[in-house]
Amino acid sequence: MTDFDKQALLDAASAARGSAYAPYSKFRVGAALLARDGRVFLGANVENAAYGSTICAERVALPAAVVAGARDFVALAVVGDGDGPVTPCGACRQVLFEFCPQLIVLAGGADGSSRRYLLGADLLPDGFGPIRLNEGQ
Ligand code: THU
Repeated sequence: MTDFDKQALLDAASAARGSAYAPYSKFRVGAALLARDGRVFLGANVENAAYGSTICAERVALPAAVVAGARDFVALAVVGDGDGPVTPCGACRQVLFEFCPQLIVLAGGADGSSRRYLLGADLLPDGFGPIRLNEGQ
C-alpha cells in the first residue's frame, strides 16, 4: 500500500483528537498512523498531573501499532486544536524515525489546513537511527 486517501487519514486523526485527555494544556492532538498492510492505528495525547509524564498522540499510536505486529508504515496524520498545521515534536520525530525514515507526515489543523512532509528529509535530517548501530532487525 503506497497510495492512500490523505483526507481520510487526516479525518481519522481529527476524530481521534476527540479522545485526547488534555486538561492542563487544553491542546488536543490526534494521530492516525497508516501501516503498509492497510491498518490504521490511532492515538491522542494523554496528559498527566506530573507534566513530564504526558504522552503525545504520535507516541500513543506508534507503540499500539508495534504491539499489534505492524512495523512498516506509510504515513502519519497529526491534527491539533487551533489554526494551522501541527507538526510532531522532536521526541515524536525521533521515535517515528526508528521505524520509518521515509514516513509521509501530514500535519493538520482544526481549521482544515494541512501540510505534507517527509520525516527524514524534512523533519529530522541526518537523524540517528538503527542503521548506525548495525541493527535494524
Ligand atoms: N502534543 C502532541 O500530542 N503531539 C505533538 O507532536 C505536539 C504536542 C501534545 C502534548 C501536550 O499534551 C500538548 O500537545 C501540548 O504540548
